Amino acid sequence: MKVAVLVSGRGSNMQAILDACADSAYPAEVAVVISNIAGAPALERAENAGVKTVTIPHKDYPDRETFDQRVTEEIEAAGCELVVLAGFMRLLSEQFCEHWRDRLINIHPSLLPSFKGLDVHERMIAAGVRFGGCTVHYVRHEMDTGPIIAQAAVPIHPGDDADTLAARILEQEHVIYPLAVKWIAEGRVRISGEAVKVSGARAPVGALVNYQDA
Ligand code: GRF
Repeated sequence: MKVAVLVSGRGSNMQAILDACADSAYPAEVAVVISNIAGAPALERAENAGVKTVTIPHKDYPDRETFDQRVTEEIEAAGCELVVLAGFMRLLSEQFCEHWRDRLINIHPSLLPSFKGLDVHERMIAAGVRFGGCTVHYVRHEMDTGPIIAQAAVPIHPGDDADTLAARILEQEHVIYPLAVKWIAEGRVRISGEAVKVSGARAPVGALVNYQDA
């Protein structure tokens, strides 16, 4: 399955997917990486992996819809069937979300539906919650909503600050994002109402990863 990855920054989740793709048994391939930010570190990582990159600066477009339309053109030109948001820091228009409905996924560094939005690590610590984690989900137009494909949970320790917690969660992001892409590419993932069922998948050892079996 050809996949497009949309980025704005560091690109560590994109890298985790590229690393997974290096295994010939992995059922997906990154056909294009698109950034709205020129010079984003993710672009260099993609180029090092020999993947086509495209920069589409959002400031060059009069409105969100026109920018999103340009992004769709690039995704379609690359023949992609799945769009993976990996630290893409732009809200997407309703039109884009509908066009790519059930073919557009995101990763968020919390156990959704708790802690949507930005600065989640700080907010989790301030709220005193004992567990954090990350969520891979299909994207709906409202920010950080949509059917949940997989989540991984991590403990929050008394001495944690936003950076230590973010690092612990990021490690699990790099586990569940390539896994979710794999399940989708293998045709194991089915959306049923607002829930997702995954058939015949096996979670990796050493992580608290959970999904709903079909
Ligand atoms: C990750 O924490 C991800 O959950 C969030 O943005 C961050 C992107 O990091 N959506 P990276 O660019 O993948 O390193």
